Amino acid sequence: MSTTQHTPIRRTKIVATLGPASDRPGVLDAMVKAGVDVVRLNFSHGSADDHRNRAEAVRKAAEQQGRTVAILGDLQGPKIRIARFKEGKVVLEEGADFRIDVSLNDDDGDQHQVGCDYKELADDLKAGDVLLLDDGRVVFDVVDVKPPHINCKVKVGGKLSNNKGINKQGGGLSAAALTEKDKQDMKTAISIGVDYLAISFPRSGDDMRYARDLMGEAGKGIGLVAKVERAEAVADNETLDDIIIASDAVMVARGDLGVEIGDAQLIGVQKRMIARARTLDRVVITATQMMESMISSPLPTRAEVFDVANAVLDGTDAVMCSAETAAGDFPVETIQAMDRCCRGAEREREAQESKHRMKDTFHRIDETVALSAMYAANHLEGVAAISCLTESGHTPLIASRIRSALPIIGLSNNPATLRRMALFRGVIPLHFDADNFDNAEVNARTLETLESRKLLQEGDFVILTKGDHSSAQGGTNTLKIVQVGTEIG
Ligand code: G6P
Repeated sequence: MSTTQHTPIRRTKIVATLGPASDRPGVLDAMVKAGVDVVRLNFSHGSADDHRNRAEAVRKAAEQQGRTVAILGDLQGPKIRIARFKEGKVVLEEGADFRIDVSLNDDDGDQHQVGCDYKELADDLKAGDVLLLDDGRVVFDVVDVKPPHINCKVKVGGKLSNNKGINKQGGGLSAAALTEKDKQDMKTAISIGVDYLAISFPRSGDDMRYARDLMGEAGKGIGLVAKVERAEAVADNETLDDIIIASDAVMVARGDLGVEIGDAQLIGVQKRMIARARTLDRVVITATQMMESMISSPLPTRAEVFDVANAVLDGTDAVMCSAETAAGDFPVETIQAMDRCCRGAEREREAQESKHRMKDTFHRIDETVALSAMYAANHLEGVAAISCLTESGHTPLIASRIRSALPIIGLSNNPATLRRMALFRGVIPLHFDADNFDNAEVNARTLETLESRKLLQEGDFVILTKGDHSSAQGGTNTLKIVQVGTEIG
């Protein structure tokens, strides 16, 4: 195979969460310069105006730098939380009795009891269940349930402070995926013009289809992201596949997922989720604590370097920063470190070679052309790029499900499509208007566009895909191999 050892571009995309740290003067510009592809607006924090202002700032920075940066809105979802303590926190001893009382006033928690924002909690629990608070730092055994009381014994003690999250070991808390706040935030996200919208804690494909329905006509062009973070979402292959198919992208949301299923299970789940998403032609983001120590350190730990690298080798489309860029001391350095780790991992043969789909039957012409283009690109010596004319981003999406060391150029005149492609591994979105040119002219101008971006040199081969008609979604039916510097028909 003609894989090169060093890829000139970074294929894996970087998602950065915005927050007070990125609001500091000059930081967002520097983050975009360092290579952020997608920014995340976290609707768990901040006001509608904060998100709107950040989205505007991102658009400005991207435009000034000639970069394509997508915006991902992330809804809070039904994270179940305890209410508050009179003193702000308590310290619980192992073996102590403690009660969650869903009828207790929100600020009245003390050493013996605390309220809860999810009033149906008692209905989902029975004696013998294990509750994990504050991401599992404090653990309760449920002794008995007498609504509105859930009587527990402290199994693992420690500090418990206001509004900490509650998970049930093994999953099974049934709160619906979209709260009233989420529905309101969804409207805000649509009016801001986000490119992707993430739904938190979906239990099934139905939750995603419900979200899609709610988004309505105004949200039609927005990519829907399922944050997989409940044990029941990964309990069996059918449920996971259904969630993936009902979404445009999935996020391995390792925080809550890890609490519910435990560290040991999480490892295989990340690998399976990435593989399934790619097989089902969906995009996948790996998230949570990837560069956690960089919240307060200018350099990552070796363990973090390898966490990012391993996600790249697993085949993730994107790696994500959370608090590192939203609230940390080194947001720009975090992006630079992620960039280095991705490039390092992408040099490995494992990241460049694909055996994917060799035994599959294809069902569509555009799919066949996109996959054939990748097969040709990976095997013909001297190919420098694959260039796909696209209306919706679909052709480059299919091509990018195949591992390769070569850049896939997604050429489109639709700005929303260009931003959508910012999340696809190995795809460089570039503006290109194919209308008004005849066939030969489109080919020549494609090469000009790629050359002007220094993606090609004299003598390189380029693989082009397109359809018979311009602006025809799903119409890709042609694969052409051309050489830079020779006459093109
Ligand atoms: C552009 C080209 C068409 C091609 C289409 C594929 O519009 O001009 O010839 O059919 O892209 O778009 P898709 O969204 O299916 O990737």
